Amino acid sequence: MMKGMEAVQTFTGADAVQALSHPKLAPPPRPAHFTDGAAAELRDAMARFAWTAEHAERRSVLVDFVDTIDLANVTQAAAAVMAEHLDGTDVDVAAASWTVPTYTLATVFGMANQREQLRSDAEQLALTIGRNHPPTEQTNAAATRLMTVFAEHADPVVPVSLLYQNHDASSQLMRSAVLAAYTNAAPPGAGRTARVATSNVTVGTATVQPGQLVAIDLDGMPFGAGPHRCPGQELANSLVAGVLQALNDSGYYVDQHSSDANGYPTRLIMKASQ
Ligand code: HEM
Repeated sequence: MMKGMEAVQTFTGADAVQALSHPKLAPPPRPAHFTDGAAAELRDAMARFAWTAEHAERRSVLVDFVDTIDLANVTQAAAAVMAEHLDGTDVDVAAASWTVPTYTLATVFGMANQREQLRSDAEQLALTIGRNHPPTEQTNAAATRLMTVFAEHADPVVPVSLLYQNHDASSQLMRSAVLAAYTNAAPPGAGRTARVATSNVTVGTATVQPGQLVAIDLDGMPFGAGPHRCPGQELANSLVAGVLQALNDSGYYVDQHSSDANGYPTRLIMKASQ
C-alpha cells in the first residue's frame, strides 16, 4: 500500500472484481516522496499508472510488443538460466528468483551480455515504483540507463516496463511455484492492488470520496482483472515453466524452506539427488 496514505476500504470478492473495472477508480498517483527525475518520468509514462484513453493507448502498444515474444523461447531461456545453478551444489531458489526472471528476459531481448546491469537497474525501479522507497540518484541513473539501452525501440518505455513488472512479480511466482511443485506447504495468500477514487464512487455497499485510496484483494485473480489485468501472464507462466523444467531434469529436491508472513518462500534450499 502507498506510503503516507491509508486505504479507507478493502474490496474483496465480487466487489474487488467490480472495483478493478470501475471507471472512477484510477491507479494511485505518484506519491509525494517520489520526486521529479528520470524514474518519476518513467513511472508517469507507464501504462500501469495511466487511466482512461491514455491507458488504452499505452496498453495496446505494450500488448502488441508482448505478442511478438515467442513463449517457447522464454521457457527455453529460463530453463538455461536456471540450469546454471544446477551444477550439483545446493541452490537457494528464493535467492535465484531475484536474478532468473531478469536474466531470462535479457536473453529473450538478445541482451544476455548486459543481464546483470539490467537486473540491477530493474531492481532499482522495483524498489522505488513498486515498493515505494524514495528515489535516489541510483534510481534515476537506472531509469536513464534503461531508457538509453532501449533507445532504438519504437517506445523504450515498453520493454523497460516489462523488465520492471517482471522483477518482483516473477520472483514471487517462481518461488511460490517451486515450493508448490516440490512440497505441500500452503500457497501464499492473495496479493493486493490499490486505486484512488477520482469522484464519489460506490462499490457494493461502500462509498468512497474523491482522493481516497482503496485496497483491492486479488484473491482468485492473481493476475488482476479489468482494463489493467496483467498482460504478462503467459510470459510469466512460460518463464516459470522453464524453471520447473530445469529443476525436474536435474533431480534436485527441496531440503529446507521458510517463508515470509504472506507465505512466499524467503529461503528454499534445494539439493542434488545422490
Ligand atoms: C513477465 C512477467 C510480467 C510482466 C512483463 C508483467 C507486466 C504487467 C504490466 C505491464 C501490467 C500493467 C498493465 C496495465 O496497466 O494495463 C501488469 C499488471 C498486473 N500484473 Fe503483471 N506482469 C508480469 C508478471 C506478473 C505476475 C507473475 C503476476 C502475479 C502472479 C502479475 C500480476 C499483475 C497484476 C495483478 C496486475 C494488475 C495490477 C492492477 O490492476 O493494479 N504480473 N503486469
